[in-house]
Amino acid sequence: MELLKIEGLSKTIKKKKILNNISLTVNSGEIVGFLGPNGAGKTTTIKLILGLFKITEGKITICGHDVATDFENAMKYVGGIVENPDLYKRLTGRQNLEYFASMYPDVDKSHIDEIVRMVKMSERINDRVKTYSLGMCQRIGIAQALLHRPQLLVLDEPTNGLDPIGIKELRDLLKYLAKEAGVGVFVSSHILSEMELMCDRIYIIDNGEIIGEKNINQTEDSEDAPIYQYVFVTDNNEMTYEYMKSLDINCELKNDGVEIVMKSSEIPNIVKTLVNNNIGIYAVNQKRRSLEQDFISITTGSKTQIR
Ligand SMILES: Nc1ncnc2c1ncn2[C@@H]1O[C@H](COP(=O)(O)OP(=O)(O)OP(=O)(O)O)[C@@H](O)[C@H]1O
Ligand SMILES: [Mg+2]
Repeated sequence: MELLKIEGLSKTIKKKKILNNISLTVNSGEIVGFLGPNGAGKTTTIKLILGLFKITEGKITICGHDVATDFENAMKYVGGIVENPDLYKRLTGRQNLEYFASMYPDVDKSHIDEIVRMVKMSERINDRVKTYSLGMCQRIGIAQALLHRPQLLVLDEPTNGLDPIGIKELRDLLKYLAKEAGVGVFVSSHILSEMELMCDRIYIIDNGEIIGEKNINQTEDSEDAPIYQYVFVTDNNEMTYEYMKSLDINCELKNDGVEIVMKSSEIPNIVKTLVNNNIGIYAVNQKRRSLEQDFISITTGSKTQIR
């Protein structure tokens, strides 16, 4: 089910176009990344989703409710944090959550306890927020966003200030929410490796425009089967190289072997052909094309050679 739908969204501030024709969707049970460098427009988009900014052009719907024309209903289904969570520093974590809970009907104490446990803040929840680390504030922020049991969770750079263990815990929490509770998660970041581990799908934003979309865990035999880099290590790399070239395979002769970029499904045939031509194969090493390579090639505007 489509929880978030953004269609042709543009935002202009003081005649400057900050966002240009953004379209994207987030489905139930899915963790969708929003990846882009500083100033790309991530926070602006998230503010528009949460109704904190006025839309210049286009449409945002949350569970079918238009954020511009049906604001209150739309907000019932979304929880989020923008940049750093806004907390009352002199109050305890629990007092903060109780205060925010009072704005919603049906958020009782046991529900607050459950969420506090979920974000792993039970031990420190009765301490004042001013004694918290940045990571602890992030956790309270996420707890606050979850109070009214939203179906869509929108988080702006939630890993900011988290240590590696905190990042892993956040990842586990988001996966739990998505896979067990069917929550849709839209999460921004400028860190590629983090997104790759956390998300099912990512959109790449640069300069206010979506410049790419990527599935992270593609299955081997899907329509767009993953393309990998392989290094063939053989008893005659030069001959292997010449042979691959004669087959019109895009290849390079490296010190450690012959590097090719190929769909995984093509590899058995290539191996068979080499063996039939009396080439001894020591190894076929697979390297995963990283998101980083994609990101750089997309943001610098040059298409990757394998697309
Ligand atoms: N209120 C505003 N007035 C004028 N320009 C703004 C305003 N808010 C944002 N911008 C501009 O919009 C662009 C996008 O900013 P935004 O904060 O959305 O980027 P971001 O992707 O969240 O970046 P970061 O990774 O640094 O958080 C920037 O060029 C920024 O300067
Ligand atoms: Mg931002």
